[in-house]
This record gives sequence, C-alpha cells and structure tokens, in this order.
Amino acid sequence: MKLVADRIILALLSCVMLAFGATSSFAQGDTYKDAFYWNKQLNPGINLDNALVMRDGKLRAIEENHLALIASAGFKSVRIPVVWSTYTGSNAPYTIKPAFFERVDKIVNEALANNLIPIINIHHYTAVMKDPAGQEKRFLRMWEQISQHYANYSPKLMFEILNEPSQNLNGEVWNSMLNKAIRVVRKTNPERILFVGPGYYNSYTKLSAIELPRGDHNLIMSLHYYDPMNFTHQGAAWMGDISESWLGTTWRATEYQRNRVIGHFDIVAEWAENNDVPIHIGEFGAYDKADMTSRVKWTRFIREQAEKRGWSWAYWEFCYGYGIYDRHTDEWRTDLLDALLH
Ligand code: BGC
Repeated sequence: MKLVADRIILALLSCVMLAFGATSSFAQGDTYKDAFYWNKQLNPGINLDNALVMRDGKLRAIEENHLALIASAGFKSVRIPVVWSTYTGSNAPYTIKPAFFERVDKIVNEALANNLIPIINIHHYTAVMKDPAGQEKRFLRMWEQISQHYANYSPKLMFEILNEPSQNLNGEVWNSMLNKAIRVVRKTNPERILFVGPGYYNSYTKLSAIELPRGDHNLIMSLHYYDPMNFTHQGAAWMGDISESWLGTTWRATEYQRNRVIGHFDIVAEWAENNDVPIHIGEFGAYDKADMTSRVKWTRFIREQAEKRGWSWAYWEFCYGYGIYDRHTDEWRTDLLDALLH
C-alpha cells in the first residue's frame, strides 16, 4: 500500500535527520511518535467552553481549580477553544496581542502541569467563513505566530487548524487554505500533532472532499457529532427560532436511533481505513434543555461507539450549557460524568 511505503520513507528520513543532528520540536528524551500513538492517549477528553472564547463581548472566566478538577476526574485531554481573531490586528502584519498569548500560555501550562494533553485551536473566526479570500493572509499569519510561539513546547501540546469551517469556507477553498496552514505550521513544528477537519462544521458528510498532504503522519481527523440536531440543540438560541419547536425531543436508544449513529460512524470508519488517518470526535454533546435521561443515553452511546472503533473524543463541554459540571454549586453532574467515564 502506498501509505505503508510513505511511512517507511518518513521513518528513514527521520533517522537521517537525527544522524545529522537535525533539531525537532520534541523535548529531549521524547521519541518520534505518530498520530495513531497520540490518538490513543487522548481519551477521555473534554472541551473547555470558557476562558478563551468570547461571550457577550467578554472572555468567560476559568476558575483556578478547573483544570485540576478535570484531571482529577480522570480526563486525559482538554480541547481549549481560542478566539485568536479578536486579539489579532486587522491589518498586516496582523500581530496577536502579547497579553493574549500570556493568557493562553497560562491555561496551556496549567493543563500540562496537570498532566492533561491540551489541544488549542482557532475558534469562532467568523470573518474567515464569510470571506475566505479576504482573510487568508491574516489566518496564515495567525498560524505563523502561534506555531512560532509554541514551537518548543512539549509534544503533548496539539494544534487544531480551525473550528468548524463553514459557509464560504468549503470544498476546494477550504482544502487550499487548510493545506497552506499545515505548511506554515510545519516550518516550525515539523512533528507536532495537528487536528484537521472537514467542511460543513466538521461534518462526516464532507470527509470525502478533504485533501490532506501526503506523507504527514502526524495528522488527526476531527469530526463534530451532534446528530440529531433537533435533539442535541433543542432550545439553543443560537440556532434561531426553530430550536424552540424542537423542545421535548427525546433520545431513548431505540433501534432506529442506534442504527442511525452506527450508519454514520461506519461511513467514517471506512474513510479512516482507506486513508489511514486516526479519528477524533472533537465535539459531541446535548444541550441542557433536553431531558437528562436522554442526554445520558445519547452521550454514553456516542462515546461507546467511538471507543469501539478506536477513536478518541472530547465531550462538549465542561461547565456551561452542555456542562458535566455545575459551576454554581461546584458539583459534577454525575450521571453525565458516568456516561463518559464508566
Ligand atoms: C460552538 C459553540 C456551540 C457548540 C454547540 C461549538 O463549536 O463553538 O458555540 O455551543 O458548538 O453548537
């Protein structure tokens, strides 16, 4: 298989580079490991929907103890959505504010100190979805700065190129921009794990359209799974008025409901097999307007189906609308936590 041949060539190249003393972003003592190795280290994973994402014009606060709490519950990785675009200049050279880097550093360092694998991304960059051509230089400059800034960090820090490409950022336009961004990151981080995702909000339905660079074995495919939307997004204001009419939708793990998920996941498994790329379900979760019994059943089923296929996952999310932790009472929602961990 050509992919096996690619792998052998890459391994030989790494040996040659090491023999000539080439530097790498891996810390001393770490050996080369590919995306399949790292993908096995990520479960269980959780998203932070706070701290580095804007809500109502300000960044939400993350409490000092949140990452320690997440680690002590048994989580191994934490996906940290980061709204870089708000803190990046609108004109060339599109400088990211140093104070914002400090803020991201603090959370990344805290995750690492708690032995969590942090995944940072570019989140809620709405301008690039509307006007990909107009934003391309800015987007690539963001990655140039982010990857330079973290080049010497532990290989446990991982990057995700962009959350939920959508609207005009689709098909060929997205493929082209994604591949350019990967090339930018690879200049300073030749081996760091990168998460990439298909268009239409990281949907499995757009997997077949994605084109990845050949020979890069440190890529993980990140998909978001919220099906059925009328269940997972019932009452979610950002979906518009229609979400009100979805209220009361249940998910009881009927044969039809289970087979629907299995059918979708089988499509993904086939793509993964044919393309030799590991799969991460980077977001899945059901909003708190749905009944708890359904939320627990759905969450457990998605988690089990992902694990059955050897995929990693990160539940959406820690302590807001989908949260498994109640930040007002400082208590875990144990039934949801159990659905993820046991
Ligand atoms: C968005 C969140 C949203 C979630 C579920 C995420 O990708 O960033 O704002 O709550 O998806 O729709």
